[in-house]
Amino acid sequence: MDQTPYIARLQNVAKTHMLDNVAVRALKDITVDIPRGKFNVFIGESGSGKSTLLNLIGCIDVPTSGNIEVCDQNTRLLDDNQLSDFRAQHIGFIFQTFNLMPVLSAYENVEYPLLLKQTPERERKDLVLSTLEKVGLLDHINKFPNELSGGQRQRVAIARALVKKPELILADEPTANLDHKNSAEILDLMLSIQNSEKTTFIFSTHDIKISHNVENLFMIMDGAIL
Ligand SMILES: Nc1ncnc2c1ncn2[C@@H]1O[C@H](COP(=O)(O)OP(=O)(O)OP(=O)(O)O)[C@@H](O)[C@H]1O
Ligand SMILES: [Mg+2]
Repeated sequence: MDQTPYIARLQNVAKTHMLDNVAVRALKDITVDIPRGKFNVFIGESGSGKSTLLNLIGCIDVPTSGNIEVCDQNTRLLDDNQLSDFRAQHIGFIFQTFNLMPVLSAYENVEYPLLLKQTPERERKDLVLSTLEKVGLLDHINKFPNELSGGQRQRVAIARALVKKPELILADEPTANLDHKNSAEILDLMLSIQNSEKTTFIFSTHDIKISHNVENLFMIMDGAIL
């Protein structure tokens, strides 16, 4: 199938969260096309709906109404099992709180998605080491997450997202728990990876400073795109 120029297309997407029988309208009628092969940034205040939106695009959650196409797949047509296979195949995730497995070393955390995909051992080793090299962590491969700094942990998480060569990387406020210097370094690393690998990124932030460096900026406010 030919690829469209869009990594994700949302049509009239709404999401209402239920909390103690109270409906919270997190996203209201969002229609947006997000280009493929770019570094796309969603910027918005706390509570504006960024995580809700990224979780829908990442098929971690389903919309209350509307239609979502991701990597040219209509997500409505997939059941729960097919959605998790689809995620494992096509999408890498990077989170604000790193979400590394504490009992696995840096190497093993990066290897994990390849074990799920049953990548053969020789190929796995080459991929893990070359990806850890890309994020500048070859000197720390045997350390556990609690032996790494915040910036280094986020580099492990980037390598883990990247190692399976996904079409799309979703990064939900990946710099929010880092100091200014580390935030800038992590953003630069992602921009350079995007540039060299041509992987599509969808990145969210509340930090207006980040918007100076990027081409594709979407503003989100009160659950709507401006
Ligand atoms: N699981 C949930 N149950 C109930 N309400 C929720 C849930 N998740 C999010 N919300 C509400 O939906 C709205 C959007 O939340 P969301 O987490 O998407 O915002 P955000 O832009 O990611 O914020 P932040 O920058 O603080 O991470 C908020 O009003 C939030 O309280
Ligand atoms: Mg959020």
